[in-house]
Amino acid sequence: MKIVVVKDYAQMSIKGAELIAETVKSNPEAVLGLATGSTPEGLYSELIRMHKEEGLDFSKITTVNLDEYYGLSGDHPQSYRYFMNEKLFNHVNIDKNNTYVPNGGAEDIQEECKNYDKNIEKLGGIDLQLLGIGGNGHIAFNEPEEELNFGTHLTDLTKDTIEANSRFFDSIDEVPKKAVTMGIGSIMKAKKIVLLASGKGKAEAIKELTSGKITTDSPATILQVHHDVTLFVDEDAASLINISK
Ligand code: F6R
Repeated sequence: MKIVVVKDYAQMSIKGAELIAETVKSNPEAVLGLATGSTPEGLYSELIRMHKEEGLDFSKITTVNLDEYYGLSGDHPQSYRYFMNEKLFNHVNIDKNNTYVPNGGAEDIQEECKNYDKNIEKLGGIDLQLLGIGGNGHIAFNEPEEELNFGTHLTDLTKDTIEANSRFFDSIDEVPKKAVTMGIGSIMKAKKIVLLASGKGKAEAIKELTSGKITTDSPATILQVHHDVTLFVDEDAASLINISK
């Protein structure tokens, strides 16, 4: 695992965007695994800038998102489909038919989960997977539990995650209690993984992730066995680990 400590959120966003841009340039038909939340917003802004000012070309790129709230359809302003359209897809030359986000409003959610993994296989797998991390060590919505799921599945969100995500909703009662999420296996099959973390709230999870121990109590720790993971962490997120810049 390559750990790169950067000064702050802005630097983390630039470094992450540079890595994605490299992939897009070297393989214009790459399959990118994408994340939502506050962490990648700056990275997406940087990709938009690269597209507008430097002609970074997304026309043949395919994207696969990690997760979606259960019960929210893609036109709901808090849905992750809506987020992706607003924060990235509407501003670059990507073909939206090549952008996949789980359908949280699907009538048969089990079928939706099965098909989501099948589609990733059909696309030839994920070339580069972008991840954020929960303060509790979750990746996508693989929450701390006794057992972790391999494939895409419907999951309960923990109290911590519901509380953390309530900042995007008018009230905590509006936060969905479940989500459709790619599983640990779907993520670990990605050829390359880049994880971003910023802020003191992520420091404990980053400490676990770099501890040399793997535990389902902090699902991200499994990333330590992947052969190509880069962490871009800012100084606050890295404050509990012993790595100098
Ligand atoms: C979002 C996702 C989540 C977030 C995590 C951190 O698609 O998969 O695992 O990456 O909850 O969220 P932020 O970035 O808002 O701190």
